[in-house]
Amino acid sequence: MANRVVYLNGKFVAESEARVSIFDSALMFGDMAFEMTRTYRQELFRLDEHIDRLYDSLRLLEIDCGLTIEQMKQQSLETLERNLPTESDEFDWQIMHNVSRGPLGVYSPAFPQGIAPTVSINCWPLVSHVGGMAEKILHGVQVAIVAQHAIPNHLLDPRAKTRSRMHYQMAIMQGARMGNVFGVMLDPDGYLAEGPGWNIFLVRDGALLTPEPRNILIGVSRGAIIDIARSLDIEVHECNLGRLEALQADEIFCTSTPFGAVHASHFEGQQVGDGSAGPVYRRLIEAWQEMVGVDFAAEAQSYAAQLPGWLEKESQASAALT
Ligand SMILES: Cc1ncc(COP(=O)(O)O)c(C=O)c1O
Repeated sequence: MANRVVYLNGKFVAESEARVSIFDSALMFGDMAFEMTRTYRQELFRLDEHIDRLYDSLRLLEIDCGLTIEQMKQQSLETLERNLPTESDEFDWQIMHNVSRGPLGVYSPAFPQGIAPTVSINCWPLVSHVGGMAEKILHGVQVAIVAQHAIPNHLLDPRAKTRSRMHYQMAIMQGARMGNVFGVMLDPDGYLAEGPGWNIFLVRDGALLTPEPRNILIGVSRGAIIDIARSLDIEVHECNLGRLEALQADEIFCTSTPFGAVHASHFEGQQVGDGSAGPVYRRLIEAWQEMVGVDFAAEAQSYAAQLPGWLEKESQASAALT
């Protein structure tokens, strides 16, 4: 809404006035790294891991954003702090870091003040992202392999979280065409890699199985699930998993920052278990919910109920600015 503010290149500006040049390398090449962190009860979850991953992405992309990790954390906390009062205390938030190489050198005459990386941190209440997922969080998602393959690490290191995401977009479009399916991509060897914004887990005979961290983005939520599983003495194996392993699985679920985790009711049209959230998934989610003090299904339902009113309020605020 009109009152949200964005950290942009060292200053806080109104969200409606936060502008990035059309000559920015982000627009030209998708040449940038980003992060998406969320709050639970308005506290940032695993911020250190997200910022560390951002700096690993920047290292891989050879971008020096001009802020130390400590300064980036400070600015992140301040951005959240400044935005919290713009919504009711009930809402949790996403906080997004976007760092590009900055305007391309060939356009330097348009930037007499000099060329530097573009750094922004913005906040958005999770009501739309999580509210829009409520049905899926309650009843599960349909997962299926899509035609689009994951980009293997010898072509582009997938541990860098970048905006070069056309292959993810294709996987989303293909999944949508298959009937609102969460499309999982295979790696070049035919093993499950990841979805276009989430990591995948299988459960077999009580053990947790997930693709090796080779051709995937190493999700912070994936790390949270692995840590929780180990604390509950659930065996975890990072290994090669094919279509057969998915068809054999007792449970399948996907993890990602905005929604945490969602179980698969079906894989390639075949019911997984009895289609509902399985016992291992439920143990993991209960422990996660206890750790952060949020009931994921209740949050999603509450946001879904508030979504129409919130969208109306946002549209009016935006219209008033134009
Ligand atoms: C390609 C990809 N894989 C996995 C994930 C999940 O990562 P995280 O749990 O850190 O949100 C994301 C998140 O955006 C992603 O883009």
